[in-house]
Amino acid sequence: MQHSVSIRDLSLSFGSVSVLKDLNLDIGEGEFLVLLGSSGCGKSTLLNCIAGLLEPTGGQIFIRDRNVTWEEPKDRGIGMVFQSYALYPQMTVEKNLSFGLKVAGMAKAEIDKRVARAAEILQIGPLLKRKPSALSGGQRQRVAIGRALVRDVDVFLFDEPLSNLDAKLRSELRVEIKRLHQSLKNTMIYVTHDQIEALTLADRIAIMKSGVIQQLADPNTIYNMPRNMFVAGFIGSPSMNFLHGEIVERGGRPAFATNGVDFSLDGYAAGEALQPGRKVVLGVRPEHVKVDEDGAEEAHRATVDIEEPMGADNLLWLKHAGHSMSVRVGGARRFAPGTAVRLSFDMGLASLFDAGTEERI
Ligand SMILES: Nc1ncnc2c1ncn2[C@@H]1O[C@H](COP(=O)(O)OP(=O)(O)OP(=O)(O)O)[C@@H](O)[C@H]1O
Ligand SMILES: [Mg+2]
Repeated sequence: MQHSVSIRDLSLSFGSVSVLKDLNLDIGEGEFLVLLGSSGCGKSTLLNCIAGLLEPTGGQIFIRDRNVTWEEPKDRGIGMVFQSYALYPQMTVEKNLSFGLKVAGMAKAEIDKRVARAAEILQIGPLLKRKPSALSGGQRQRVAIGRALVRDVDVFLFDEPLSNLDAKLRSELRVEIKRLHQSLKNTMIYVTHDQIEALTLADRIAIMKSGVIQQLADPNTIYNMPRNMFVAGFIGSPSMNFLHGEIVERGGRPAFATNGVDFSLDGYAAGEALQPGRKVVLGVRPEHVKVDEDGAEEAHRATVDIEEPMGADNLLWLKHAGHSMSVRVGGARRFAPGTAVRLSFDMGLASLFDAGTEERI
């Protein structure tokens, strides 16, 4: 398969500080790839290397099999959209869109055609004669996207394009970016620290920590089969519950024991043998904890501590054997604080990690 963007052994240091370390990443033609990670993990640095705004310390970058490592940004066939819209304040929207093309010497008829097309796709036609100061944040960001759109680039690079917008606009524009990708089918590389943006937009997510990709997979795999505890804890809100314990044998089958309480591991698809005595961490998402009100023997009895009704869902905080645990149930299921419930886990959807390496078992 032809890769749209290939990154080979990319390293980047600022002085003695190493930000990216031998990073490898292949992005498919037309793929929507999201770089996700907490602040300072190197997302923008990686994007800026692809864009040609930063020179890597080592390694190479290919766009459509062409080595662009030493090419000027303008020759790479990329368009970049930043968090700060970076529009020319003295120019109208129309001029903001056409300026770059004019400087590049494009014929007026072609410029007009492209501006009209971008305005239609982004629904900014009625705004063309306005200046940026007379636009809302969402409208400004649309114009910023339009500027990349008119250039007819192979690859779009987005660096947190929605983080200056309020929550409602953010979710609206998120849907528009998804629609844009569905209709244009360009390769898009999108940096965010917002897990909802990552899960909703991405074909694949690359989760980064300290300049190293921790897992590269489709959103479903990242959510359900996190490779390590970092990925597991980063994705999901509230976070996955982590219970420290060990593997024990019960009736010839492996079980998970924590604070003297056993839970059968039947249904858990381990990638390797579950040796009794191994110290492990059981990870269970709030929606994979099951609670029943029909009584339980002491060991599996938990108490509802706090209830947080959220409309569609109801979030419970349980206390069990010294642990505090979050549980998501349907909005119609209500539990008064102090209610005793029977606790169990959907092991088929749980994750087991080695307590030492924190890697998935
Ligand atoms: N010009 C620079 N000189 C020195 N260090 C820098 C420079 N630019 C970035 N860094 C450092 O490199 C690391 C990665 O920065 P980067 O901007 O890529 O993070 P990020 O993942 O985009 O974070 P954020 O989500 O906050 O934007 C940070 O620790 C940052 O302090
Ligand atoms: Mg950044």
